[in-house]
Amino acid sequence: MTDTFTLVHMSDIHLGPITGFHARHWNTKRALGLLNWHRGRRHVHRAQLADLIAADALAHNPDHIAVTGDLANLGLPGEFAVAREWLDTLGDPQRVSVVPGNHDIYSGRIGSASCLDSWAPFMRNSESWKADEPVRFPYVRIQGPIALIGLNSAVPTPPFVAAGRLGDAQIAQLAAALERLGEANFIRVVLIHHPPLPGQAPPRRALQDAGKLADVLDRYGAELVLHGHNHREMLSWRTHSGRGIPVLGVASASAARSHKDEPMGRYYLLRIGREDGVVRIQCETRGFAAGDGQIVKLGQRELVMP
Ligand SMILES: [Fe+2]
Ligand SMILES: [Fe+2]
Repeated sequence: MTDTFTLVHMSDIHLGPITGFHARHWNTKRALGLLNWHRGRRHVHRAQLADLIAADALAHNPDHIAVTGDLANLGLPGEFAVAREWLDTLGDPQRVSVVPGNHDIYSGRIGSASCLDSWAPFMRNSESWKADEPVRFPYVRIQGPIALIGLNSAVPTPPFVAAGRLGDAQIAQLAAALERLGEANFIRVVLIHHPPLPGQAPPRRALQDAGKLADVLDRYGAELVLHGHNHREMLSWRTHSGRGIPVLGVASASAARSHKDEPMGRYYLLRIGREDGVVRIQCETRGFAAGDGQIVKLGQRELVMP
């Protein structure tokens, strides 16, 4: 492979502790979320582990880092500020891309606070990209041969619902972007928080318009789709013009211990290049194998459609 591009993919950081919780933020969804956090997730997600993962990722000198959402827990302004500080440790916003998750856009805006504002530099179009419409999502960031296309699947939801939705307008803009970028021969990497295909999550946690998104992927193609949300490693495929589109989900980067069937913290180190005109993607999984704080190589595979 020539001119390999190194892309880090991490997700579902769920940074604690939960800060910035005032009476005016109180509603049923946040009350239940806070209870849930103290009962279980507080013991799973550790900011120190996210820091170790980030340091390991940076030690590999990646060309770019993609973070696919759920940096926060209850979508609070204090959490956005903590997450912004953490994002700044990953590097210049031009080399770090973020899409929001359902825990970032959790229960509607609080005053003027939104993660979309706090994290705006990490969600901006490249200057060379002129969108057909002046939209915030999808954004397109060009980095050498790679075009990162960021989607926002997060919408405020009622208690016990963690579903997502893109909406027809965003899906139409995605189709237009994929077509243009494909014609220009970019390696197109789509970023989304929710698992993007039908049946990849139970209805209360699923992307509601996954069917429409899958149709766009089939019709216009992409070279890679990266997602989080399920806190598990997942790999599915779509096809476009006889070529496979890998749809890759990563587990949480901050899990200090396995929880239900979710593994300990990990991330992907992706090496993307072309060989004889064909895009090839090597995926190394790195993370914690034991509770000793050591990060090791957990696996290595080439993403090849079975
Ligand atoms: Fe999550
Ligand atoms: Fe999520």
